[in-house]
Amino acid sequence: MVRRARVIGCGSALPHRRMTNEELAGLVDTSDEWIVQRSGIRERRVAAEGETTSDLALAAARAALGRAGIAAADLDLIILATTTPDRTFPATAVRVQAALGMTGGAAFDVQAVCSGFVYALSIADAMIRQGQVRTALVIGAETFSRLLDWSDRSTCVLFGDGAGAVILQAGLSEAGAQGRGILSTHLHSDGRHEDKLYVDGGPSSTRTVGHVRMDGREVFKHAVTNLAAVADEALRANGLTAADLDWLVPHQANRRIIEATARKLDLPPEKIVLTVDRHANTAAASIPLALDDAVSDGRIREGDLVLIEAMGGGLTWGAALVRW
Ligand code: UT7
Repeated sequence: MVRRARVIGCGSALPHRRMTNEELAGLVDTSDEWIVQRSGIRERRVAAEGETTSDLALAAARAALGRAGIAAADLDLIILATTTPDRTFPATAVRVQAALGMTGGAAFDVQAVCSGFVYALSIADAMIRQGQVRTALVIGAETFSRLLDWSDRSTCVLFGDGAGAVILQAGLSEAGAQGRGILSTHLHSDGRHEDKLYVDGGPSSTRTVGHVRMDGREVFKHAVTNLAAVADEALRANGLTAADLDWLVPHQANRRIIEATARKLDLPPEKIVLTVDRHANTAAASIPLALDDAVSDGRIREGDLVLIEAMGGGLTWGAALVRW
């Protein structure tokens, strides 16, 4: 038997306000047809004035705790992945910690943009395996709309706001790929590509928050190559093939990227969890939002083999293979 991190609950939260492609076509020179054809996005949620990343994170965390049937006092750790913290410091995770009434353990943020949730999951997994913590809350939460230049049609149509959370708990599992829990995680980055996707502001450079800038075509090319490679890496590390997968839960940036990656893996479309049409790209929140969608409606079930993967600014990318 081996000590592994098992997912014992998921939750998510979305802002109330829906923004359709038609509405965006009133702001910039774009169309529903272009956005759907190029990205698969039909609508996104946008946080209300005063609604923060920690508000969304807290709602997702409460939902996940409820599903797991545990109290905040049972948590030893909160890791929150975000690119849009409430404040430059302290970490948004400590605001969530305080709001949950959790006074022990540790809480911190992770910054790996769209790969943030995979990075956070990987750290929590390592801490659980090592025996440092027993129960961890891992959140991906964003108010990405706050980073958008609403006059730049090449970026403002692609992103949305939201949060998702999972609770991980240590458990003893059968060794090998049949045993439940996180089987392995795989992280990568290549800072040479920093300028392909970035925010043109920051406390130490411009002293401003800045706006998202992206060379979409370049990011697209790297995404398909890197995502297929890291998926292969995760499967090979566990002696598995894509045919063993029950579900692919990818970062939801672009339907075409997701489908191209699935084609490279020879994975049928029925095995892909897609939320990009409703949520757009919510950066670190997109995977836990998609996970909660598929767990809540009964698609992902105990014993299923789930591959999670993401790529984003940095460039960063990564994958996690989970026996649910
Ligand atoms: O989450 C982090 C990772 N991010 C991603 O994975 C995003 C990766 N990139 C993409 O998803 C795609 O590259 C986009 C959806 C951003 C763009 O799709 P594309 O097929 O690569 O289009 P493009 O950038 O090559 O642009 C095609 C044309 C351009 O016009 P010209 O130069 O061909 O005349 C753009 O100016 O579409 C134009 N365009 C638009 N037209 C209408 C760009 N944005 C828009 C728009 N509406 N919103």
